[in-house]
Amino acid sequence: MSKIVAIVASARKNGNSDTIVKAIAEKAKANGNTVSFRYLNDFKCLRGCQACLGCKKAGRCVLHDEISDVLEDIRHADGVILSAPCYFGQPSAQYRILEDRMFSFLDSNACSVIPCNKKLAVVITCSGGVSEADAVAKRISDDAVSLFKYQLIDTIVMADGVSRNAAANDAAILAKARDIGSKF
Ligand SMILES: Cc1cc2nc3c(=O)[nH]c(=O)nc-3n(C[C@H](O)[C@H](O)[C@H](O)COP(=O)(O)O)c2cc1C
Repeated sequence: MSKIVAIVASARKNGNSDTIVKAIAEKAKANGNTVSFRYLNDFKCLRGCQACLGCKKAGRCVLHDEISDVLEDIRHADGVILSAPCYFGQPSAQYRILEDRMFSFLDSNACSVIPCNKKLAVVITCSGGVSEADAVAKRISDDAVSLFKYQLIDTIVMADGVSRNAAANDAAILAKARDIGSKF
């Protein structure tokens, strides 16, 4: 049984990112894995990387807040689901804060200090066409593989997500999510 942590970096609970992640998680759980959700938007304090370089000595982020807890959850997980909506062509600010704090996963030679080969799924949603969101998903998954040595299962990019129910009504997206979930 593997431990999976699901990061939802949308402002909307039960929105498109959350719905897709839940579909992945449902299938992953049916296969005997545990999945715990982290809703970044619920955090009272979202502090970005302070560039203190304390992590280069300590081997972990030296801030003590909810994001540090998520970083530890990721460190100890066997699998990770990273999800974010596309805002102004980038992942949401909630995601970017977590991402900058992942600097603590790198030592001073830019080598990862967290266990490698974590399975990874990346979910990016947007309301326009897929090109911007595709680029975001590619950048996040490329970094995860090259910097942190994740093993990418797949990415999901969902376009036309103006309504928060768009993913729930998209059978193809949900089928792809369940397929990814079965690979954890
Ligand atoms: C502040 C803000 C900026 C956005 N910027 C973009 C964008 O640049 N491109 C795009 O396609 N959609 C954009 N969207 C739409 C969201 O990405 C889209 O509705 C997405 O499905 C939301 O995901 P959620 O349901 O998980 O919250 C933006 C939405 C907000 C609130």
